[in-house]
Amino acid sequence: MAEGQVLVGIDVGTTGVKAIAVSANGDVVGRAEVGYELQTLRPGWAEQDPEDWWQATELALASLETQLEESAGAAAIAGIGLSGQMHGLVCLDEQLAVIRPAILWNDQRTGEECAEIERLVGLEQLIALTGNRALPGFTAPKLLWLRRHEPDSYARIRHVLLPKDYVRLRLTGELAIDAADASGTLLFDVERRAWSERVLEALEIPTEWLPKVLESPQVSGLNSAGVPVAAGAGDQQAGALGVGVVRPGPLSVVLGTSGVVFTALDRYVHDPQARVHVFCHAVPDTWEAMGVMLSAAGSLRWLRDTLAPGAGYEQLTAEAAHWRPGVEGLLFLPYLQGERTPHADPNARGAFSGLSLVHDRGALVRAVLEGVAFGLRDSLELLRELGVVPESGRASGGGARSRLWLEIVASVLGLPLELTAVEEGAAYGAALLGGLAAGVFPSAEEAVRACVRVRDRIEPNHDWQEGYERGYSRFKALYPALRPLEET
Ligand code: XUL
Repeated sequence: MAEGQVLVGIDVGTTGVKAIAVSANGDVVGRAEVGYELQTLRPGWAEQDPEDWWQATELALASLETQLEESAGAAAIAGIGLSGQMHGLVCLDEQLAVIRPAILWNDQRTGEECAEIERLVGLEQLIALTGNRALPGFTAPKLLWLRRHEPDSYARIRHVLLPKDYVRLRLTGELAIDAADASGTLLFDVERRAWSERVLEALEIPTEWLPKVLESPQVSGLNSAGVPVAAGAGDQQAGALGVGVVRPGPLSVVLGTSGVVFTALDRYVHDPQARVHVFCHAVPDTWEAMGVMLSAAGSLRWLRDTLAPGAGYEQLTAEAAHWRPGVEGLLFLPYLQGERTPHADPNARGAFSGLSLVHDRGALVRAVLEGVAFGLRDSLELLRELGVVPESGRASGGGARSRLWLEIVASVLGLPLELTAVEEGAAYGAALLGGLAAGVFPSAEEAVRACVRVRDRIEPNHDWQEGYERGYSRFKALYPALRPLEET
């Protein structure tokens, strides 16, 4: 990359678009974030207007360019990469106009359609082909929901895109997707890295609605200034690349609103019950397996908003630090909006168990930190069943700012956790993909070698581990014990 050039990474997130500019040695030299609304017309629904994503992207890019002009004297952009919230359904008509608001990854309306897909394709075949079960967040059940509930909209569909791919369309005029994000549609043959004719036929969805599939570092088109735009990846895959997880080795452990334990795989394998997701990774010829918890740092935010509105997370975790591990028997089940891994149960619910008069606010906070760590441990155990033998994790996400939480997670997982120098998550991985598309780096491994640096390492606390093993056994017994209550 020539002197003064930068790479731009764009992450089309759930709460806003983040755009960053990265120099060739990996430093972040510009940063802009523009938010938008989430529409919840009914409980469990989550929609957004794709036009909002595009306007936010334009504003973020304009702000980035101003920053670059002010600091570096108009640095030229060598390459752009895209990442974004996965699984969302964007429907376009013949004129490429948006037909209705996008239905997002965290929307829970499609329980019936999931059962229908597993019946139509056959559960075993669905898992073998797509690496996954039909989960309400995924794209295919949303299409079936539209066919049943909004037949007029459905009849107008000519193109189906995921969120970041709509931004690509506006940026480059191209209809395209990458294998990594396509894996989350449930219409994709994850082993062959191509749309699955068998699933599409069984669900009667026309193949021609789907965009062409590229690998994440490939050029998908050029923006109006002629800059190459990489195909990009879903936020988890781009985020993993951004912390250096490109081959089997360290795990990516994300403490964001949702919680993720992610491994890269050098071949396609899948859990016969698909309790963890298996998708294509952003690195060609690699795959990834991950467990996704729906409420990780989201659980702490809920606790803060309900019990201590306005309090800082630092204050709350300081109160939690006064409590011993195990919080005198207090356990928290973090299923505040259902759970994906390991239960695939949109109706699962959260709980505190073991409350007594000794417990105060700090105790509740510590129980939340530990309950989320136990949920991540569930995902780790499922990855181990796939033959993954991790030795460490790379932590990211807002929750990774808490040293206490990292120490708890490291102790519950029994793995050291490393922090990398740059904390921009998926946008950073997207920028590296932009560098690959522009030919700045010859391979993802080289991009990681040039840019990703470990700055800190948190070891498991051996004094806590035995207690946490007991706590984890009690945690695992809690969900089965509460199910009958939910069903009454
Ligand atoms: C991954 C997933 C989330 C969303 C939203 O499967 O659902 O990571 O992409 O961020």
